[in-house]
Amino acid sequence: MIWDDLITKLAEELSPERLEHSLGVVEAGVHLARRWGANEEQVRLAGLLHDCAKGMSPDELLHWALAFDIVRNDIERVCPDLLHGPVGAMLAWKKYGVTDAAVLSAIRLHTLGGEKMSLLERIIYLADYVEPGRAFPGVEELRVLAEQDLNLALLRAMEGTIRYVLERGLPLHPQTVRARNSLLAEITADQRERGNHGGEEKGGYAPT
Ligand SMILES: [Fe+2]
Ligand SMILES: [Fe+2]
Repeated sequence: MIWDDLITKLAEELSPERLEHSLGVVEAGVHLARRWGANEEQVRLAGLLHDCAKGMSPDELLHWALAFDIVRNDIERVCPDLLHGPVGAMLAWKKYGVTDAAVLSAIRLHTLGGEKMSLLERIIYLADYVEPGRAFPGVEELRVLAEQDLNLALLRAMEGTIRYVLERGLPLHPQTVRARNSLLAEITADQRERGNHGGEEKGGYAPT
């Protein structure tokens, strides 16, 4: 499907604010793709469609997730909004004609993250968090960090999401915990490696 047709079709499903947010994710994502050497077309497609299931009610999300047998635990039954990533990936395939598995995976993981994420998945997760429409305290610092150290910025974003969930007394999805721990292990190993080769940072990453 060509770009303008995708936007027209998406506009029938999403509120104007959600569509604007999605275009913001495209903008932030393309910026990060140029900085970090990702495929721009994949980033544009995944960014535009990442919230394509966000217009569904919780009941509809759960209905489709059950129909496709992709509900994994009770947390997803209690908080069906967590399913808009995986259901969105199904919709992107069935309704918007996306057949690129890497793009579908980035849509699927944009809310909960995952272990050993691809560059595309990392960029979409982070772009969703720092797109130009976001205005939470610290977002500007995170945008700057995303230019300097993609993984550290991603870790901050994941931790921000975890804090948000805890502050609201919501159940924390184990996939989010696994994603954060996997990334933390990767960052720690990278920093140790750099330390062993005479880099400036020694002693590993200390969470603050
Ligand atoms: Fe989302
Ligand atoms: Fe989003």
